[in-house]
Amino acid sequence: MHRPDPHSFYESSQPKTRRLRLKLGVDFDRKRIEGEATLEFGDSVQGDLDLDTKGLEILSVKVPGAGPIPWSLGEEQPILGRRLRLTLPADTQEVAISYLTSPEAMALQWLEPAQTEGRQAPFLFSQCQQIHARTLVPCQDTPMVRISYQAEVTVPEGLTAVMSAGPAGDAPAPGGRHVFRFAMPQPIPSYLLALAVGRLASRDLSPRSRVWAEPETVASAAWEFAGVEDMIAKAEGLFGAYPWDRYDMLVLPPSFPYGGMENPRMTFLTPTLLAGDRSLVDVVAHELAHSWTGNLVTNASMEHFWLNEGFTVWAERRILRILHGSDEEALGWAMGQKALEDSLERFKDEPHLTVLRLHLEGIDPDDAFSSIPYEKGARLVAALEREVGEERFHRFIRDYMDAFRFTSITTEQFCTFVEEQLPGALKAVGADAYLHHPGLPETAPVFRSAQLDRLTALAERWPEGVRPTGEQIAAWKPAELLVYLQKLPRQLTPADCAWLDGNLALMGRGNYEILVEWLTLAAAADYEPAFPRIREVLSKVGRMKYLRPLYGALGGHARTRALAREIFAAASPGYHGLSRRVVQGVLESYPA
Ligand code: BES
Ligand code: ZN
Repeated sequence: MHRPDPHSFYESSQPKTRRLRLKLGVDFDRKRIEGEATLEFGDSVQGDLDLDTKGLEILSVKVPGAGPIPWSLGEEQPILGRRLRLTLPADTQEVAISYLTSPEAMALQWLEPAQTEGRQAPFLFSQCQQIHARTLVPCQDTPMVRISYQAEVTVPEGLTAVMSAGPAGDAPAPGGRHVFRFAMPQPIPSYLLALAVGRLASRDLSPRSRVWAEPETVASAAWEFAGVEDMIAKAEGLFGAYPWDRYDMLVLPPSFPYGGMENPRMTFLTPTLLAGDRSLVDVVAHELAHSWTGNLVTNASMEHFWLNEGFTVWAERRILRILHGSDEEALGWAMGQKALEDSLERFKDEPHLTVLRLHLEGIDPDDAFSSIPYEKGARLVAALEREVGEERFHRFIRDYMDAFRFTSITTEQFCTFVEEQLPGALKAVGADAYLHHPGLPETAPVFRSAQLDRLTALAERWPEGVRPTGEQIAAWKPAELLVYLQKLPRQLTPADCAWLDGNLALMGRGNYEILVEWLTLAAAADYEPAFPRIREVLSKVGRMKYLRPLYGALGGHARTRALAREIFAAASPGYHGLSRRVVQGVLESYPA
């Protein structure tokens, strides 16, 4: 017996699920889903089958046509949840499990109407990555197993369901309800199962792309993401034909804990991207790129997460270069450098979490999450590209996609393939240091541009009293302003903050990257005029990328610590479970 994924009860000697048929009844009153999951094996199988579950109440397990079969739930384990062991009789083709989800299911956030834009109807969304699919469906919750699926989702009349799948019709259902059907013919890992239910409207952006959002935001979403077809075309230039038919997007309510999630055929996005000037669409480029790097070629487990994210950041920045030029790309790398340095600092006492090839036995993947697989990973990919040249690397990427499409691979498989295709390249870039050693290698590629150097020099001279001129400020694009703010000293005075806000009009920014960078500086400076805006942002937005630094920066002064605790007490019931946990960790790290 062998359990190859430390985050799953999956046994590699057992049959793999090939297809999943789901019936989901969404009950907003009881905050639970009544589910029936039928696992198909595509073959006759028998014997033990171990599935992952967490917080699920199992009602019955049967082989259709043959009746109930024996099953048992193991003890609750802190990270993994409970193993559901089924004993399949001879000649089993499929098995049907009836179950209920728990109101605390980590994959699901149930929103009250007041937490939505329209304030009229409740909202439900899922977030299965990393290992939360098991709180939604009993399954082999490891990317080593890929399943196609079909689903029937019953929701209250007036609400719309969307999934990481193609729509396959909808119809009224008994009891004032409505049923939506879906089909995902391509095999996907369980972490890409996704569902959202709410008051939704959509706008077509191109023949193969539309955006969904609450009716109140759908017009601004359509404007913000109008360039998506252009991005798909550029991504196809890098990777080959788009493999998932449609590319639709869903803009969620603000408690969504991530910037974006690459659910196939239906990217989930935070509404904080709606800056009104298309300045944050690099997140769409990123999620779109995952259609290849992640969804088509998938990490075999969270120990190889960098294969998903490092490649995707690299691709995101290549798309940025093609669309907006290499100056913009250099700014992207500079922002990434800041995120990388912050993460290396956060994990300075846990160097084993700063290698790319992780060892996560006994470690919750959500606790290991950081910018390191993203930015260190992207730098390894960029180093390989520089080593062999763009043209050869381009061919390599195509071959990589062809060789591993619809499979899930390890770092070791990746390295073997690189060695075959680009002999000597791994050694030449010192890949071993990226993969197996902490920190960032000295030799990592650096991305520079004249403008980036100017911004850096200007910010570094802040302590000497050097300030940007009104002319300079007026000419800055959002990305330039952001990089400037990121390069400023972390500890400013209230007078510094007053200058910044007065000259850069920071308090009213619609670009959340800029707004949060500013509020983080203001919080660290104990700058009182920013407190109401800090409270507003922390009460509304659940994106962890913003909560972590902002709550972190509030830790520096007694007054700001009190503010943070007070805001958290009021806001945390509205946070996603993942966000709540992250903030709790930050608050616990405050000096007593
Ligand atoms: N797949 C990730 C989001 C994720 C990671 C969810 C780990 C759960 C566990 C997604 O593609 C992502 O990286 N989002 C970033 C976007 C950014 C890097 C452009 C985010 O949410 O900020
Ligand atoms: Zn990503």
